[in-house]
Amino acid sequence: MCGIVGYIGQEDTKEILLNGLEKLEYRGYDSAGIATLNGGVNISKVKGRIATLREAVDENIHSTLGIGHTRWATHGAPSKENAHPHQSTSGRFTIVHNGVIENYMDVKNEYLADVELKSETDTEIIVQLIEVLNNELQDVNAAFRKAVNLLTGSYAIALIDAEDENTIYVAKNKSPLLVGLGEDFNAVASDSMAALHITDQFLELMDKETVLLRREEVIIQDPNGKNVTREPFTAELDTTDIEKGTYPHFMLKEIDEQPFVIRKIIQQYKNEDDQIKLDPEIREAMKQCDRIYIIAAGTSYHAGLLGKQFIEKLANIPVEVHVASEFSYNMPLLSEKPLFIYISQSGETADSRSVLVQTKELGHPALTITNVPGSTLSREADYTLHLHAGPEIAVASTKAYTAQMAVLAILAVDTARAKGLELDFDPMQELAIVANAMEALTDQKEALEELAKDYLPTTRNCFFIGRGIDFYVGLEGSLKLKEISYIQAEGFAGGELKHGTIALIEEGTPVIALATQKNVNYSIRGNVQEVEARGANSMIISMKGLNKDGDAFVIPHVHDLLTPLVSVIPLQLISYYAALHRDCDVDKPRNLAKSVTVE
Ligand code: G6P
Repeated sequence: MCGIVGYIGQEDTKEILLNGLEKLEYRGYDSAGIATLNGGVNISKVKGRIATLREAVDENIHSTLGIGHTRWATHGAPSKENAHPHQSTSGRFTIVHNGVIENYMDVKNEYLADVELKSETDTEIIVQLIEVLNNELQDVNAAFRKAVNLLTGSYAIALIDAEDENTIYVAKNKSPLLVGLGEDFNAVASDSMAALHITDQFLELMDKETVLLRREEVIIQDPNGKNVTREPFTAELDTTDIEKGTYPHFMLKEIDEQPFVIRKIIQQYKNEDDQIKLDPEIREAMKQCDRIYIIAAGTSYHAGLLGKQFIEKLANIPVEVHVASEFSYNMPLLSEKPLFIYISQSGETADSRSVLVQTKELGHPALTITNVPGSTLSREADYTLHLHAGPEIAVASTKAYTAQMAVLAILAVDTARAKGLELDFDPMQELAIVANAMEALTDQKEALEELAKDYLPTTRNCFFIGRGIDFYVGLEGSLKLKEISYIQAEGFAGGELKHGTIALIEEGTPVIALATQKNVNYSIRGNVQEVEARGANSMIISMKGLNKDGDAFVIPHVHDLLTPLVSVIPLQLISYYAALHRDCDVDKPRNLAKSVTVE
């Protein structure tokens, strides 16, 4: 969701900005633009992709200072007019902004009554406000700081002043933003990937700070204008981690990476004595709580549903799993000693963060499980568990989902052991078996592509059914399919479809059933017969040992509890091929954003 990149240095900035914006494409966007400064400001913006922006940028304009933006529409439709950068009336100030300004109507009424606005965006309000305040204060930095202090909501901002070729003004509140440091240049970006082609040194910014970004210095200031010092960190990313290599899509690459990610997790969470290596404070927090509340969105929510199974079954602690956006406005009665676990691939999901802010205010401990250790949810929680999945670029989450489940399984076992519970389950050994099973499945792409072609070529809808943990995997399978192929897909508990939705089954309606659990193998197959009797085109994905003649696909045998890590792989690949054969943009599905930084 929206991305920012800015550069001030010695090199021509166009290519640096466009390259940075390309690295932010994965976040999701519908329009893009850049502004460069050299004598005057030059703006290029388009509705659509960065490739279109590239064509629109005038090659003859050279500049060593510029800002760029990818926009995911919130206020105002996706259009060239609403795309960033936006300018103040005089043209002196040019801005790019991520986030949502909650009090933009108040600001407009109080400060901008006489200003004629050109766009429908809340962003234009900020740049116009800065101009009005600067006219009054005759000090751009003071006007900038005063303006951002007046704003409520979320923002990451980069602003240039046509009369100052040595400064980019930067501000941040709630929305992610990092400063990138160089020898004779400095940069700003929504995440390190967007600046990794020029530096691996970054400075974190705290909420409400402002920054004067110059070629030779970076001045960070608190809301009162007091200078703040901060040590840089080195981004532990390799540029090859964020390239597709020989793969046609990031999603396919990330599906294939899953066995390696599981092995990496085993390595990272094991000490020399082959015991689980985990922050003792997390162990203590898990031991002390009387109930766990898992908060997440999308695929991470689905991983949370399975995390509940692991923690309840292995560690004997009650767990509730909540959709972040609902919990935020409808908090249930809490237990006496709750522990909150936030699961988020990006660590930036605004819905989850809003709950974190509330539960921190209530004084409850928080653990974040994320793929991005420096992310907002990680910084603001008491503890973090890292997924070690490497950057996930495709919007549809795959390797982060299986990594989340692996880490949750390890956490559950560690807690059980800390509580002195007897377990007949060695997570590292079982996860190693899972990694091998995953590899066996990613080697069977052709068979899964055929299944996708047989079952889903032109269908309008598709149902997933399963019982117990298979039901939760079905929810994830249906989310994958709808996200990238736009087939209307729904996941149901095996016994529930007949309580209403079976009315939608017609001749040929695809129903994908999961059968990996011994205790429900008989009943789920009964549910398949019910839908087949009404004309459904069903497909059973079962596990070796429980399979029957006629099953469409059989996954290798793994421990009962860990089947989701393996059974999801055929669902990911079927979704991938269904989307591919429908000519959909697999990595960048319409309307979706990877990192959802607005509520
Ligand atoms: C967006 C993405 C989903 C993702 C969800 C949660 O909606 O499109 O794929 O599962 O956000 O993201 P998170 O980073 O918190 O796991």
